[in-house]
Amino acid sequence: MGADLDKATIAKAYARWAPVYDLVFGAVFEHGRNAAIAAAERIGGRILEVGVGTGLSLPDYGRQNRLIGVDISEPMLRKAQERVAAERLTHVDGLTVMDAAGLAFPDGAFDVVVAQYVITAVPQPEATLDEFARVLKDGGEIVLVNHIGAETGLRRAFEAWFAPVARRLGWRPEFPWARLSRWAERRDDVCLIERRPMPPLGHFSLIRFGKQAAGAARAARLA
Ligand SMILES: C[S@@+](CC[C@H](N)C(=O)[O-])C[C@H]1O[C@@H](n2cnc3c(N)ncnc32)[C@H](O)[C@@H]1O
Repeated sequence: MGADLDKATIAKAYARWAPVYDLVFGAVFEHGRNAAIAAAERIGGRILEVGVGTGLSLPDYGRQNRLIGVDISEPMLRKAQERVAAERLTHVDGLTVMDAAGLAFPDGAFDVVVAQYVITAVPQPEATLDEFARVLKDGGEIVLVNHIGAETGLRRAFEAWFAPVARRLGWRPEFPWARLSRWAERRDDVCLIERRPMPPLGHFSLIRFGKQAAGAARAARLA
């Protein structure tokens, strides 16, 4: 495997993506985005979108929710700010440049944390998920949509071969499901609620983790 992702590479990659991102990824990721929003809105309330990018998903949230978006890429976020102004998205309370692995919010600040096409692109996925869990209330959910690497076969071989090129684009195509499932198993307050295949080609997944009071998830697993 080539060098892993680092913050500078990601910021550089998304500065390049920003002008064309909506054109390239707007339609192709739409199904996953809609599923993530539907999952988030089942809980609703204060929602944090991490890696909000150009803000493609923001107009689709119901106006009864309060949204905050963060992203490490200033050029991507600028597009999101333009969208909020142009479409008068009054349910968006703020858009801020911030690293997902160091969220400047207090513990338990949000009902839902949503990260669409982000968790496999951050340098430290497990530490980043710990941050998501920290800023989430008990009873809240982490909602992810992401490409998950194949475990066997031709697709696995292709993803491993493509990985070094993908790093420069800001992706980890071979990211294994085990990293996410092991992260949840290590915590005593998080459980996997759902993993559902998503288009394109079912290579993407909608993933929901629930946060409970400390100890509750481990007790449920042992019962
Ligand atoms: C593939 S884009 C997804 C954008 C948006 N969520 C969507 O669905 O269109 C990944 C986004 O994650 C952001 N990102 C990557 N690493 C990050 C980090 N460590 N902290 C915050 N945002 C990050 C990128 O800047 C980019 O905007």
